[in-house]
Order: sequence, then structure tokens, then C-alpha cells
Amino acid sequence: MSLTVQRKVMHERRVRLGGRNLLSPDNSAKKGSPGLRIFFGDIRKMTADEVADGEVALIVTSPPYYNAPFDYPGLFSSYEEYLDLIRAFASQSRRVLGKGRICAVVTDDMLVREGNGGRGKKYPIVADTTRAFIEEGFLYRDKITWVKPAGYTRISRRSGVVLQHPYPMYFYPDNIQESILLFQNGEFDYEQLKNLSHDALESSKIDTLRLNSENWTLSVWNITNVLPMAGRVEEGVAAFPDEIPSRLIKLFTFVGETVFDPFLGSGTTLKVARELGRKGIGYEIDLELKDVIRKKLGLDYHRWTGEDYLLEEKAGARNLRKTLQTKVRQQKSVAS
Ligand SMILES: C[S@@+](CC[C@H](N)C(=O)[O-])C[C@H]1O[C@@H](n2cnc3c(N)ncnc32)[C@H](O)[C@@H]1O
Repeated sequence: MSLTVQRKVMHERRVRLGGRNLLSPDNSAKKGSPGLRIFFGDIRKMTADEVADGEVALIVTSPPYYNAPFDYPGLFSSYEEYLDLIRAFASQSRRVLGKGRICAVVTDDMLVREGNGGRGKKYPIVADTTRAFIEEGFLYRDKITWVKPAGYTRISRRSGVVLQHPYPMYFYPDNIQESILLFQNGEFDYEQLKNLSHDALESSKIDTLRLNSENWTLSVWNITNVLPMAGRVEEGVAAFPDEIPSRLIKLFTFVGETVFDPFLGSGTTLKVARELGRKGIGYEIDLELKDVIRKKLGLDYHRWTGEDYLLEEKAGARNLRKTLQTKVRQQKSVAS
């Protein structure tokens, strides 16, 4: 089936379903499914048997940074191929999200050096991701700017250029922000909250003192990034800090609902979801991250708590990390 036909079939199925109201007891996450489900495979190939239509209350994720030197350099043969992945991600998100629920995408424009010289080319990933989600039928609800501490830039210090040449036209800023894009799957029906028990509602209540004192109320969030220290469980993964999924999960889900991360990486979203009493589903293409995820979630056999979880290999799972990084090291040594 071609991608266009696949999209059409998915769209028709969504229209038939009319979007599910997750808060009604009949429509909560798949009955009897474990609290934690992790699939190794390509998100483009995810099926409704793995993640059912409308079963997810919130998506929190950070897609691969397009050919970023710190993430998966050279993973995509072209920017168009990258955008195809983003469109497939938008389409899968629309299928699995409940009616009116949120998909939060942590992403950034990417400066990629191509060939041997130059300052690199900047790709408008934030704008193109927004366009892909709107075209898929999502409402563009908001953009939060995540600001990292000035001292911890992960990319090269581009501002060095103007310091060396203090004249007009030499200015390139050091980037210390990313975007958290919030897309909504249609309107949320606030009437359904009336059917929730007092306990269910109160256990999910947001701490407004914290909300105010830590400025969650603003469209700019100052949060320290994961520091690139040797020996950390996420070493080599472009992981976001716990604080990002933590805020989003508290702001957009009720206790017991399901949070999904289609680009799971080291497993940060699921770790936090579990700590906050939510169910979690993750999808990750790279089999080499299996041990990292197990460790981060405490699922390694020695520390396994006996909790009910599922970990399965699916279509498209690959060994990626070492292969790509070796390839780039080889390219660098030939170029130098
Ligand atoms: C930026 S990282 C996510 C990091 C994660 N937020 C964390 O805190 O660890 C993006 C992840 O997407 C995975 N990925 C790339 N292409 C994928 C695909 N087609 N399907 C599923 N996962 C994919 C990469 O292997 C990588 O681990």
C-alpha cells in the first residue's frame, strides 16, 4: 500500500471512530495491557494491534534531530526523507491520541555541516514540523520555548566569530533554546470531567503554588538540560531532562491515563510517567538502546521489581548507534 493510500485509510478509520473520549471507563487504555509497553521498531510501521486507535492521553517526544552531529549524524539521506518521517509521526499520533488530547514535540531547527567547509546550513524543522501537524488535522495550540542555562551549550560557540572579527555581518548567536510544540487532536470536551469521581479529579490536581513560583505559567521555561557527563545512563543519547515530561504529564493527563513516546531514546518519558502514576508506551528503532532503557526504568533483571511490563521487537528495529558513529569517525579521519 502506498503512503498516500495508507494515510487515507487511517484518516477514514479516524473519521468512523469520531475520536475517543478517554475519560469514559470503556475507553481507557487496552484492557488488561501492562502498565509499561516498549516496542523496538520503526514508528512508521506501528500497527493498531500494538497501540490502539485513540488509546493515548498524551504524547511527549523528541524526534531525532535531523542529521545532528550529537545524535544520529548521516541517518537521513535527505531533508525530504526526514520530513517524511515527521509526516508519518504526525499521522500515527493523530490515530493513537484521544479526542482533544495533546501531542508535545520537543524539537529545534538544525544547523548541519554538509561537505567539507562552510558554516553549515540551517534547516527550519520547527516550522516544517508545525506545518506537517496542521496538515494532518491537528490544532496548533501553543509553543513553549525551553531555555537552557547559558553555560551549557551543546553546539559549537558560533559567537566566537564576531568576537574574533568585531565588525558587522560576523554575528552568529550561540543557541540555548529548543521549542516545545503543543498540537491538539480536536477540541477537548470539558463536560466529561463531570463524570470523574472526586478522588480521581483530586489526585490529578495541579500544584498551583509550584506552577506560579517556577513560572510554568509562562511561554518560556528555564530548565537545565541533561549535562553531558561521562558514565550517565543516557550517555550518547540526546535525552531531555525529566522536568519536561514531568510538567507536561501533570498539565495534560489524569492519573492512570496513558502517555506515549514514539521516539523513546533512553526512556525518560516512561520513567517519569510511571513515577507520576500514569501508564506508558514507548517506540524506539535502535535495538542498541535496549539496555539503556532497561537500566533507566529499573527493568534490568537484577533490579526488576516484578512490575508488569512488555518489551517486544517489531518490524524495522535496527542496530544504529555504533554503526553511524563509526561511519562518521571514518569520514572525519579521511577528511582531515
Ligand atoms: C532525540 S532522541 C529521543 C531522546 C529521548 N527524549 C530521551 O530523553 O532519551 C530520538 C530517538 O528517536 C529514535 N528514532 C529515530 N528514528 C526512529 C523511527 N523511525 N522510529 C522510532 N524511533 C526512531 C532514535 O533512535 C533516538 O533514540
